[in-house]
Amino acid sequence: MIPTSHELTTLISIPERGPYGDNKYRGNYAGDVLIKLIGFLQANGIAAPYVYDPMEGGMTSRDVCSSLNLPYVGSDIHQGFDVVGDDLHDTGFDLCILHYPYWNMIDYAHDLPEELQKKDMSRMEWKELSRR
Ligand SMILES: C[S@@+](CC[C@H](N)C(=O)[O-])C[C@H]1O[C@@H](n2cnc3c(N)ncnc32)[C@H](O)[C@@H]1O
Repeated sequence: MIPTSHELTTLISIPERGPYGDNKYRGNYAGDVLIKLIGFLQANGIAAPYVYDPMEGGMTSRDVCSSLNLPYVGSDIHQGFDVVGDDLHDTGFDLCILHYPYWNMIDYAHDLPEELQKKDMSRMEWKELSRR
C-alpha cells in the first residue's frame, strides 16, 4: 500500500525488513523505505516515478519497482558497472536511491575479478574517492 501523505521526514522507521529483495544479501535494506519515497513523489504529482539504483546489491529496489509496475534501472559492480568511474548513458530519473557499501565492514569485493576489486567502494579509501 502506497502512503498518500504529502509528508516526508528525515526519519523513517521500518520495524520489519519486508518481502523485497534477497534477505541473504549482506546489508540489504527494507523496501518499504523506497515505497515511502515513491509515495511522496506520487503524492506530489509524479504518478510513475522512474527509479535508478546504481548499487542494487540484493535487488530490493528492483523488486519494489517491479511490484509497483514502475520503470526502473539497476546496476552494481557485481554486474561490472562502476558507479564512481563509469558513465550511465541514461537520463530522466525521478528518484535515485543510493545505499552505499559499509566501508571496511562488509567486503563486497571478495568474489569479484581482480580488476573490479579495487573499484569496490567498500574497500576504497575516502581520499581516493574524493579525488575521482
Ligand atoms: C549496501 S549494498 C546495497 C544493498 C541493496 N540496497 C540491497 O537491498 O540488497 C552496497 C552495494 O554497492 C555495491 N558497490 C560497491 N562499490 C560499487 C561501485 N563502485 N559501483 C557499483 N556498485 C558498487 C556492492 O557490490 C553492494 O552490492
